[in-house]
Amino acid sequence: MHQAGNNRMMHRLPVEAYTSQDWFDREQERIFSRLWRYAGFVEDVAEPGQYITVQAGLNPILVVMGHDGLLRAFHNLCRHRGTQLLRAVGKTKKAIRCPYHDWTYSLDGELVSIPDEGAEFGPVDKSCLGLKRASVATWRGMLFVHPDPDAGPIGDWFGEVEPRLGPHQVGELVEYDGGRTSYEVRANWKVVVENYIDVYHLSHLHSGTLAMYDHAKAEYGFVGPHFVFHEPLSEDYAANIKTNSPTPLILPEDGLGAWVPMLFPGVGLVESESDWATFIVTPLAPDRTRVENRVRVKDASSWEFVKQGWRSYAYWKRQVRPKHDTGDPDDPLASADFTAEDIYACEQQQKAMLSPQFEAGPAARGETPVLEHQQVVLDYLGGTG
Ligand code: FES
Ligand SMILES: [Fe+2]
Repeated sequence: MHQAGNNRMMHRLPVEAYTSQDWFDREQERIFSRLWRYAGFVEDVAEPGQYITVQAGLNPILVVMGHDGLLRAFHNLCRHRGTQLLRAVGKTKKAIRCPYHDWTYSLDGELVSIPDEGAEFGPVDKSCLGLKRASVATWRGMLFVHPDPDAGPIGDWFGEVEPRLGPHQVGELVEYDGGRTSYEVRANWKVVVENYIDVYHLSHLHSGTLAMYDHAKAEYGFVGPHFVFHEPLSEDYAANIKTNSPTPLILPEDGLGAWVPMLFPGVGLVESESDWATFIVTPLAPDRTRVENRVRVKDASSWEFVKQGWRSYAYWKRQVRPKHDTGDPDDPLASADFTAEDIYACEQQQKAMLSPQFEAGPAARGETPVLEHQQVVLDYLGGTG
Protein backbone atom coordinates (compact mmCIF):
# COMPACT_ATOMS: atom_id res chain seq x y z
CA MET A 1 0.00 0.00 0.00
CA HIS A 2 1.15 3.53 -0.61
CA GLN A 3 2.04 5.13 2.64
CA ALA A 4 2.18 8.66 3.95
CA GLY A 5 5.17 9.94 5.91
CA ASN A 6 8.55 8.36 6.34
CA ASN A 7 7.72 5.93 9.11
CA ARG A 8 10.04 2.92 9.18
CA MET A 9 7.06 0.57 9.33
CA MET A 10 6.15 0.63 5.66
CA HIS A 11 3.39 -1.25 3.96
CA ARG A 12 4.97 -3.32 1.25
CA LEU A 13 2.30 -3.91 -1.37
CA PRO A 14 0.82 -1.42 -3.83
CA VAL A 15 -2.95 -0.82 -3.82
CA GLU A 16 -3.20 -2.85 -7.05
CA ALA A 17 -2.23 -5.95 -5.08
CA TYR A 18 -5.69 -5.73 -3.50
CA THR A 19 -7.72 -4.66 -6.50
CA SER A 20 -6.27 -5.93 -9.77
CA GLN A 21 -7.10 -9.11 -11.67
CA ASP A 22 -3.46 -9.44 -12.69
CA TRP A 23 -2.29 -9.70 -9.06
CA PHE A 24 -5.09 -12.08 -8.31
CA ASP A 25 -4.10 -14.34 -11.22
CA ARG A 26 -0.45 -14.36 -10.23
CA GLU A 27 -1.31 -15.27 -6.65
CA GLN A 28 -3.51 -18.11 -7.86
CA GLU A 29 -0.69 -19.41 -9.97
CA ARG A 30 2.33 -18.84 -7.77
CA ILE A 31 0.86 -19.24 -4.29
CA PHE A 32 -2.40 -21.19 -4.18
CA SER A 33 -1.45 -23.64 -6.96
CA ARG A 34 1.95 -24.46 -5.51
CA LEU A 35 1.42 -24.99 -1.80
CA TRP A 36 -0.48 -27.35 0.48
CA ARG A 37 -4.19 -26.54 0.56
CA TYR A 38 -6.62 -27.42 3.35
CA ALA A 39 -9.28 -29.84 2.10
CA GLY A 40 -11.31 -30.89 5.15
CA PHE A 41 -11.08 -33.22 8.13
CA VAL A 42 -10.04 -36.85 8.17
CA GLU A 43 -13.58 -37.95 9.01
CA ASP A 44 -14.78 -36.48 5.70
CA VAL A 45 -13.12 -39.33 3.80
CA ALA A 46 -13.24 -42.22 6.21
CA GLU A 47 -14.45 -45.23 4.22
CA PRO A 48 -13.75 -46.76 0.80
CA GLY A 49 -15.43 -44.85 -2.01
CA GLN A 50 -15.93 -41.71 0.05
CA TYR A 51 -14.50 -38.54 -1.51
CA ILE A 52 -14.18 -34.79 -1.27
CA THR A 53 -13.22 -32.22 -3.85
CA VAL A 54 -11.26 -29.04 -3.33
CA GLN A 55 -9.90 -26.25 -5.47
CA ALA A 56 -6.16 -25.78 -4.93
CA GLY A 57 -5.53 -22.52 -6.75
CA LEU A 58 -6.04 -23.36 -10.42
CA ASN A 59 -6.25 -27.08 -9.73
CA PRO A 60 -9.48 -28.94 -9.04
CA ILE A 61 -8.45 -31.89 -6.88
CA LEU A 62 -10.35 -34.89 -5.56
CA VAL A 63 -9.44 -37.04 -2.59
CA VAL A 64 -10.88 -40.53 -2.44
CA MET A 65 -10.37 -43.50 -0.18
CA GLY A 66 -9.54 -46.69 -2.10
CA HIS A 67 -10.83 -50.19 -1.38
CA ASP A 68 -7.51 -50.74 0.37
CA GLY A 69 -8.33 -47.95 2.86
CA LEU A 70 -5.65 -45.61 1.49
CA LEU A 71 -6.32 -41.97 0.70
CA ARG A 72 -5.34 -40.82 -2.78
CA ALA A 73 -5.55 -37.42 -4.42
CA PHE A 74 -6.03 -36.88 -8.15
CA HIS A 75 -6.58 -33.94 -10.42
CA ASN A 76 -10.33 -33.84 -10.87
CA LEU A 77 -10.11 -33.92 -14.67
CA CYS A 78 -11.27 -36.65 -17.01
CA ARG A 79 -8.46 -37.81 -19.29
CA HIS A 80 -10.82 -37.73 -22.28
CA ARG A 81 -11.88 -34.08 -22.56
CA GLY A 82 -11.22 -32.83 -19.08
CA THR A 83 -14.70 -32.81 -17.55
CA GLN A 84 -14.77 -32.53 -13.78
CA LEU A 85 -15.36 -36.04 -12.51
CA LEU A 86 -16.70 -35.53 -9.01
CA ARG A 87 -18.34 -32.60 -7.30
CA ALA A 88 -18.49 -31.53 -3.67
CA VAL A 89 -18.53 -34.36 -1.14
CA GLY A 90 -19.98 -37.85 -1.36
CA LYS A 91 -19.61 -41.53 -1.76
CA THR A 92 -19.06 -43.13 -5.14
CA LYS A 93 -19.84 -46.79 -5.61
CA LYS A 94 -16.92 -48.83 -6.78
CA ALA A 95 -15.51 -46.53 -9.42
CA ILE A 96 -15.37 -42.95 -10.66
CA ARG A 97 -17.37 -42.39 -13.82
CA CYS A 98 -17.16 -39.26 -15.94
CA PRO A 99 -20.60 -37.75 -16.50
CA TYR A 100 -19.82 -36.74 -20.11
CA HIS A 101 -19.00 -39.97 -22.04
CA ASP A 102 -18.84 -42.46 -19.19
CA TRP A 103 -15.12 -43.16 -19.16
CA THR A 104 -14.63 -45.00 -15.90
CA TYR A 105 -11.73 -45.01 -13.47
CA SER A 106 -10.99 -47.23 -10.51
CA LEU A 107 -10.64 -45.66 -7.07
CA ASP A 108 -6.88 -45.90 -7.46
CA GLY A 109 -7.02 -43.79 -10.61
CA GLU A 110 -6.64 -46.39 -13.39
CA LEU A 111 -8.76 -45.94 -16.50
CA VAL A 112 -10.77 -49.17 -16.57
CA SER A 113 -13.32 -48.73 -19.32
CA ILE A 114 -14.15 -46.63 -22.37
CA PRO A 115 -17.65 -47.12 -23.80
CA ASP A 116 -17.63 -48.41 -27.39
CA GLU A 117 -13.87 -48.49 -27.27
CA GLY A 118 -13.37 -50.71 -30.31
CA ALA A 119 -15.93 -49.04 -32.57
CA GLU A 120 -15.11 -45.48 -31.60
CA PHE A 121 -11.36 -45.53 -31.03
CA GLY A 122 -9.88 -48.89 -31.89
CA PRO A 123 -7.70 -50.31 -29.12
CA VAL A 124 -6.60 -47.66 -26.62
CA ASP A 125 -3.63 -48.02 -24.30
CA LYS A 126 -5.54 -47.28 -21.10
CA SER A 127 -2.49 -47.71 -18.94
CA CYS A 128 -1.28 -44.22 -19.82
CA LEU A 129 -4.67 -42.56 -19.36
CA GLY A 130 -5.09 -42.93 -15.63
CA LEU A 131 -6.05 -39.93 -13.51
CA LYS A 132 -3.22 -37.51 -12.87
CA ARG A 133 -1.97 -37.90 -9.36
CA ALA A 134 -1.75 -35.15 -6.76
CA SER A 135 -0.65 -35.40 -3.09
CA VAL A 136 -2.77 -35.76 0.02
CA ALA A 137 -1.63 -35.71 3.64
CA THR A 138 -3.22 -35.68 7.05
CA TRP A 139 -2.01 -33.22 9.64
CA ARG A 140 -3.54 -32.48 13.05
CA GLY A 141 -6.85 -34.12 12.15
CA MET A 142 -7.08 -32.23 8.87
CA LEU A 143 -6.61 -33.20 5.23
CA PHE A 144 -4.35 -31.23 2.95
CA VAL A 145 -3.79 -31.60 -0.78
CA HIS A 146 -0.99 -30.48 -3.06
CA PRO A 147 -1.26 -30.37 -6.86
CA ASP A 148 2.24 -31.85 -7.18
CA PRO A 149 2.27 -35.67 -6.81
CA ASP A 150 5.81 -35.42 -5.44
CA ALA A 151 5.13 -32.68 -2.91
CA GLY A 152 7.07 -34.50 -0.19
CA PRO A 153 6.08 -34.84 3.47
CA ILE A 154 3.70 -32.21 4.83
CA GLY A 155 5.93 -32.05 7.91
CA ASP A 156 8.48 -30.24 5.77
CA TRP A 157 5.94 -27.45 5.32
CA PHE A 158 4.40 -27.29 8.81
CA GLY A 159 7.04 -28.95 10.99
CA GLU A 160 8.73 -25.79 12.16
CA VAL A 161 5.52 -24.04 13.15
CA GLU A 162 3.94 -27.01 14.89
CA PRO A 163 5.50 -26.45 18.35
CA ARG A 164 4.05 -22.93 18.37
CA LEU A 165 0.45 -24.09 17.88
CA GLY A 166 -2.06 -24.94 20.61
CA PRO A 167 -1.72 -28.19 22.58
CA HIS A 168 -5.19 -29.30 21.41
CA GLN A 169 -5.79 -32.91 20.45
CA VAL A 170 -7.87 -32.08 17.40
CA GLY A 171 -8.79 -35.70 16.69
CA GLU A 172 -10.43 -36.02 20.12
CA LEU A 173 -12.74 -33.05 19.57
CA VAL A 174 -16.03 -33.33 17.70
CA GLU A 175 -17.74 -31.02 15.27
CA TYR A 176 -20.13 -28.63 16.99
CA ASP A 177 -23.73 -29.02 15.95
CA GLY A 178 -24.27 -26.12 13.55
CA GLY A 179 -20.57 -25.39 13.73
CA ARG A 180 -20.08 -25.04 9.96
CA THR A 181 -20.37 -21.57 8.55
CA SER A 182 -19.32 -20.10 5.27
CA TYR A 183 -19.60 -16.50 4.21
CA GLU A 184 -18.35 -14.16 1.56
CA VAL A 185 -16.45 -10.99 2.38
CA ARG A 186 -16.38 -8.22 -0.21
CA ALA A 187 -12.66 -7.71 0.17
CA ASN A 188 -9.39 -9.08 -1.16
CA TRP A 189 -8.14 -12.24 0.58
CA LYS A 190 -5.10 -10.38 1.92
CA VAL A 191 -7.35 -7.79 3.57
CA VAL A 192 -9.08 -10.67 5.38
CA VAL A 193 -5.77 -12.25 6.39
CA GLU A 194 -4.22 -8.93 7.41
CA ASN A 195 -7.21 -8.20 9.63
CA TYR A 196 -6.86 -11.65 11.19
CA ILE A 197 -3.21 -11.09 12.06
CA ASP A 198 -3.54 -7.41 13.03
CA VAL A 199 -2.84 -7.46 16.76
CA TYR A 200 -3.40 -3.70 17.08
CA HIS A 201 -7.15 -3.94 16.35
CA LEU A 202 -7.95 -6.50 19.05
CA SER A 203 -8.45 -4.06 21.89
CA HIS A 204 -10.20 -1.48 19.69
CA LEU A 205 -12.56 -3.01 17.13
CA HIS A 206 -13.16 -5.95 19.50
CA SER A 207 -13.06 -4.05 22.79
CA GLY A 208 -16.44 -5.52 23.72
CA THR A 209 -16.24 -8.98 22.17
CA LEU A 210 -12.73 -10.20 22.90
CA ALA A 211 -12.14 -8.60 26.28
CA MET A 212 -11.67 -11.98 27.97
CA TYR A 213 -8.08 -12.14 26.69
CA ASP A 214 -5.11 -10.19 27.91
CA HIS A 215 -3.99 -8.64 24.61
CA ALA A 216 -1.07 -6.88 26.29
CA LYS A 217 0.48 -10.29 26.92
CA ALA A 218 0.07 -11.51 23.34
CA GLU A 219 3.12 -13.20 21.83
CA TYR A 220 3.27 -13.37 18.10
CA GLY A 221 5.44 -13.45 15.03
CA PHE A 222 6.31 -15.43 11.93
CA VAL A 223 7.84 -18.88 11.67
CA GLY A 224 8.82 -19.07 8.01
CA PRO A 225 5.72 -17.97 6.07
CA HIS A 226 3.36 -18.90 8.92
CA PHE A 227 2.01 -16.48 11.54
CA VAL A 228 1.76 -17.64 15.16
CA PHE A 229 -0.08 -15.95 17.99
CA HIS A 230 -0.79 -16.80 21.60
CA GLU A 231 -2.39 -14.83 24.40
CA PRO A 232 -3.56 -15.81 27.89
CA LEU A 233 -6.98 -15.17 29.32
CA SER A 234 -7.32 -12.03 31.40
CA GLU A 235 -6.84 -12.78 35.10
CA ASP A 236 -10.41 -11.85 35.98
CA TYR A 237 -11.94 -13.99 33.30
CA ALA A 238 -9.66 -16.93 34.08
CA ALA A 239 -10.50 -16.77 37.79
CA ASN A 240 -14.13 -17.51 36.95
CA ILE A 241 -13.53 -19.68 33.92
CA LYS A 242 -15.81 -22.45 35.11
CA THR A 243 -18.79 -20.13 34.88
CA ASN A 244 -17.57 -17.81 32.12
CA SER A 245 -16.72 -20.33 29.43
CA PRO A 246 -19.59 -20.64 26.92
CA THR A 247 -18.81 -24.32 26.25
CA PRO A 248 -17.07 -27.04 28.31
CA LEU A 249 -13.31 -26.49 28.56
CA ILE A 250 -11.03 -28.43 26.24
CA LEU A 251 -7.73 -27.53 27.91
CA PRO A 252 -6.50 -28.09 31.47
CA GLU A 253 -7.16 -25.11 33.74
CA ASP A 254 -3.48 -24.30 34.14
CA GLY A 255 -2.94 -23.73 30.41
CA LEU A 256 -5.85 -21.62 29.25
CA GLY A 257 -5.66 -19.09 26.47
CA ALA A 258 -5.90 -18.75 22.72
CA TRP A 259 -3.57 -19.76 19.92
CA VAL A 260 -4.57 -18.11 16.67
CA PRO A 261 -2.14 -19.00 13.89
CA MET A 262 -2.55 -18.12 10.22
CA LEU A 263 -0.77 -20.77 8.24
CA PHE A 264 0.25 -19.76 4.76
CA PRO A 265 -1.68 -19.28 2.58
CA GLY A 266 -4.96 -18.48 4.31
CA VAL A 267 -5.39 -21.32 6.78
CA GLY A 268 -6.40 -19.71 10.05
CA LEU A 269 -6.91 -21.79 13.17
CA VAL A 270 -8.69 -20.46 16.23
CA GLU A 271 -7.56 -22.68 19.07
CA SER A 272 -9.02 -21.57 22.38
CA GLU A 273 -9.74 -23.01 25.81
CA SER A 274 -13.38 -23.65 24.90
CA ASP A 275 -13.37 -24.52 21.20
CA TRP A 276 -11.19 -25.10 18.20
CA ALA A 277 -12.05 -23.82 14.73
CA THR A 278 -10.77 -23.47 11.22
CA PHE A 279 -10.88 -20.15 9.38
CA ILE A 280 -10.19 -21.04 5.76
CA VAL A 281 -9.63 -18.08 3.46
CA THR A 282 -10.30 -18.72 -0.23
CA PRO A 283 -9.82 -15.97 -2.80
CA LEU A 284 -12.77 -15.78 -5.23
CA ALA A 285 -11.97 -12.54 -7.07
CA PRO A 286 -9.74 -9.52 -6.41
CA ASP A 287 -12.46 -8.07 -4.17
CA ARG A 288 -14.27 -11.21 -3.00
CA THR A 289 -13.18 -13.85 -0.52
CA ARG A 290 -14.84 -16.87 1.02
CA VAL A 291 -14.28 -17.76 4.66
CA GLU A 292 -15.21 -21.20 5.94
CA ASN A 293 -15.32 -22.13 9.59
CA ARG A 294 -15.68 -25.51 11.18
CA VAL A 295 -15.89 -25.51 14.94
CA ARG A 296 -14.88 -28.43 17.11
CA VAL A 297 -15.66 -28.81 20.78
CA LYS A 298 -15.33 -31.26 23.61
CA ASP A 299 -16.91 -34.66 23.04
CA ALA A 300 -19.52 -34.23 25.79
CA SER A 301 -23.27 -34.69 26.20
CA SER A 302 -25.70 -32.01 25.03
CA TRP A 303 -26.75 -31.67 28.65
CA GLU A 304 -23.23 -30.63 29.59
CA PHE A 305 -23.32 -27.98 26.85
CA VAL A 306 -26.71 -26.69 27.96
CA LYS A 307 -25.56 -26.39 31.57
CA GLN A 308 -22.39 -24.57 30.56
CA GLY A 309 -24.42 -22.22 28.36
CA TRP A 310 -26.64 -21.30 31.30
CA ARG A 311 -23.69 -20.74 33.57
CA SER A 312 -21.98 -18.41 31.14
CA TYR A 313 -25.08 -16.45 30.17
CA ALA A 314 -24.74 -14.06 33.09
CA TYR A 315 -21.18 -13.19 32.05
CA TRP A 316 -22.15 -12.41 28.48
CA LYS A 317 -25.14 -10.37 29.56
CA ARG A 318 -23.02 -8.34 31.97
CA GLN A 319 -19.80 -7.93 29.98
CA VAL A 320 -20.52 -8.16 26.31
CA ARG A 321 -23.98 -6.96 25.53
CA PRO A 322 -23.87 -3.50 27.21
CA LYS A 323 -20.80 -2.50 25.21
CA HIS A 324 -22.71 -3.03 22.00
CA ASP A 325 -26.01 -1.54 22.97
CA THR A 326 -25.60 1.71 21.05
CA GLY A 327 -29.34 2.17 20.67
CA ASP A 328 -28.84 2.38 16.90
CA PRO A 329 -30.57 -0.53 15.13
CA ASP A 330 -28.47 0.13 12.00
CA ASP A 331 -25.15 0.01 13.81
CA PRO A 332 -23.22 -2.76 12.02
CA LEU A 333 -21.21 -3.37 15.18
CA ALA A 334 -24.21 -3.83 17.47
CA SER A 335 -24.33 -7.57 17.04
CA ALA A 336 -21.91 -8.49 19.84
CA ASP A 337 -20.24 -10.72 17.28
CA PHE A 338 -16.55 -10.25 16.56
CA THR A 339 -16.90 -11.81 13.10
CA ALA A 340 -19.40 -9.13 12.10
CA GLU A 341 -16.94 -6.56 13.37
CA ASP A 342 -14.15 -8.01 11.25
CA ILE A 343 -16.26 -8.25 8.09
CA TYR A 344 -17.32 -4.65 8.53
CA ALA A 345 -13.72 -3.48 8.89
CA CYS A 346 -12.49 -5.53 5.90
CA GLU A 347 -15.22 -4.36 3.57
CA GLN A 348 -14.75 -0.73 4.55
CA GLN A 349 -11.05 -1.03 3.87
CA GLN A 350 -11.57 -2.59 0.46
CA LYS A 351 -13.95 0.21 -0.52
CA ALA A 352 -11.46 2.82 0.60
CA MET A 353 -8.82 1.40 -1.73
CA LEU A 354 -10.83 2.50 -4.74
CA SER A 355 -10.51 6.14 -3.75
CA PRO A 356 -7.78 8.08 -5.57
CA GLN A 357 -7.05 9.64 -2.18
CA PHE A 358 -6.32 6.36 -0.46
CA GLU A 359 -2.93 5.88 1.15
CA ALA A 360 -2.02 3.85 4.20
CA GLY A 361 -0.66 5.74 7.19
CA PRO A 362 2.05 4.52 9.58
CA ALA A 363 1.79 0.95 10.79
CA ALA A 364 1.64 0.23 14.54
CA ARG A 365 3.89 -2.28 16.27
CA GLY A 366 0.86 -4.58 16.50
CA GLU A 367 0.56 -4.36 12.73
CA THR A 368 4.04 -5.71 12.12
CA PRO A 369 2.53 -9.09 11.10
CA VAL A 370 0.52 -7.31 8.41
CA LEU A 371 3.72 -5.99 6.86
CA GLU A 372 5.47 -9.34 7.22
CA HIS A 373 2.62 -11.15 5.51
CA GLN A 374 2.83 -8.65 2.66
CA GLN A 375 6.51 -9.53 2.37
CA VAL A 376 5.77 -13.26 2.27
CA VAL A 377 3.28 -12.70 -0.57
CA LEU A 378 5.81 -10.58 -2.39
CA ASP A 379 8.50 -13.22 -2.00
CA TYR A 380 6.24 -15.91 -3.49
CA LEU A 381 5.32 -13.70 -6.41
CA GLY A 382 8.95 -12.89 -7.05
CA GLY A 383 8.57 -9.11 -6.86
CA THR A 384 5.90 -6.53 -7.70
CA GLY A 385 6.37 -6.59 -11.50
S1 FES B 1 -14.85 -35.95 -20.98
FE1 FES B 1 -14.94 -37.57 -19.63
S2 FES B 1 -15.63 -39.19 -20.80
FE2 FES B 1 -15.49 -37.59 -22.21
FE1 LIG C 1 -10.65 -9.20 14.29
